Amino acid sequence: MPSPLLLDGKQIAAQIRKELKAANALRISIGQRPPLLAAVLVGNDGGSESYVAHKIKACADVGFESRLLRCSSAISQSELLSVVHGLNQDEQVDGFIVQLPLPEHIDEQVINLAIDPSKDVDGFHPVNIGRMALGLPSYLPATPAGICELLRRNGITTSGMHAVILGRSHIVGSPLAQLLARPGEPGNCTVTLCHSKTVGLRDHCLRADLLVAALGKPGFVKADMVKPGAIVVDVGTTRVADPSRPSGFVLRGDVAFDEVAPLCKAITPVPGGVGPMTIASLLTNTCQAFLHR
Ligand code: GUN
Repeated sequence: MPSPLLLDGKQIAAQIRKELKAANALRISIGQRPPLLAAVLVGNDGGSESYVAHKIKACADVGFESRLLRCSSAISQSELLSVVHGLNQDEQVDGFIVQLPLPEHIDEQVINLAIDPSKDVDGFHPVNIGRMALGLPSYLPATPAGICELLRRNGITTSGMHAVILGRSHIVGSPLAQLLARPGEPGNCTVTLCHSKTVGLRDHCLRADLLVAALGKPGFVKADMVKPGAIVVDVGTTRVADPSRPSGFVLRGDVAFDEVAPLCKAITPVPGGVGPMTIASLLTNTCQAFLHR
């Protein structure tokens, strides 16, 4: 088996940022202002802190403005709703995100429903989910959109493939199932969406031409679950303790990379695969939000 194609999200995300930066510089040269993304961060979860920091830094890299709104983990639901209403009404803000997960005393769907769909650059509001389902223009959720762009820019055509997705989250698995099933490239897949109650998971995986792991279980996908020649996309980024690292942890994907990679036609690394593409897609959505206003 020839060595697998490494789907290098870091490199492709850098290319997308370069394109966004050039278009932004052009707009600024004719007197326009840059797009502005706001991010709401509730509490101090290490993973969320890191994701939001990457999003803010990515804005600076391409010349977009950003605003970070930090809230205590003790913020009440009604106070957080006021923050969202403020951003909805703020003329300077083109798009914003509320980083998930939220503390347990806050209902994520209540917050999600309060976001103005025209500023919902996460693409999580029912209006955007519904528009996506109908194939209408909308903000696409950043991780599924990033995965599609990673496949597209690597020249991988998925038409006719059997795609198997592990994990039915609203953020990744469910919207990706829709994007891969709909007409287009990437798309035109026959999709199986697996979850914690799926029976015969390994047999489903073994039928996958395209296998996407988005369940947050480090090393879950083993070599005996992968069809030789499959394309494997790893969405997992679990922090696993590693005292030998200065940070004290290492990021682990859902795929046992060392044993699975030799079987694959193409595979994403962790880190440096899907993660950077998610952030690039968020910037693309922010640019769209700016252009629509
Ligand atoms: N938490 C994990 N992924 C995401 C994402 O794409 N957007 C938001 N807002 N929170 C997340």
